[in-house]
Amino acid sequence: GHSLQDLLLARIVDVPDYPKPGVTFKDITPLLADAEAFGALTEALAGLCRRHRADKVVGLEARGFILGAPAAVRAGIGFVPVRKAGKLPGATLGESYALEYGTAEIEIHAGALRPGDRVLVIDDVLATGGTAEASLKLVRRAGAEVAGVAVLMELGFLPGRKRLEAALDGAPLDALITV
Ligand code: PRP
Ligand code: MG
Repeated sequence: GHSLQDLLLARIVDVPDYPKPGVTFKDITPLLADAEAFGALTEALAGLCRRHRADKVVGLEARGFILGAPAAVRAGIGFVPVRKAGKLPGATLGESYALEYGTAEIEIHAGALRPGDRVLVIDDVLATGGTAEASLKLVRRAGAEVAGVAVLMELGFLPGRKRLEAALDGAPLDALITV
């Protein structure tokens, strides 16, 4: 068919055993390089901003920046980065989350959001949900409301959606593709 899902899926490449044996990496760079597919993806994400009445996009470093920034511009709303720890110059709020080995920490500028802001969190992939869950905690701690989480791709064989339930607190999780 000619659905959005088909257009996007056809340009995501499975890379076996990357970054380590047994893991299949989903490479979105061919999608980004295709104007029609990247344009359709941006329109879809901007549509979710409108549908959920978001007034800010929070994009998650690094691939969430690539998808979230054009969607925010298209929807006519601002963009706020969540960065890996140590990259933001101002006062920050931070959240740590567990990785397979060790922990990761992400940060947001403490003053980037205000009470009443409705935030759509955008990222490329929902896997274990650790990154998205930590970002939702940051959004709430920064004083804003969660309008939803939107990802290009949900890995349906992992419990990411379940893990996000409490942090979403009823807000929608939209995946354009589930694999
Ligand atoms: C990847 C991906 C998501 C996250 C999903 O980011 O882009 O942000 O992992 O995994 P999770 O649901 O298990 O948290 P990663 O930090 O590997 O790298 P990036 O900087 O290239 O986005
Ligand atoms: Mg990422």
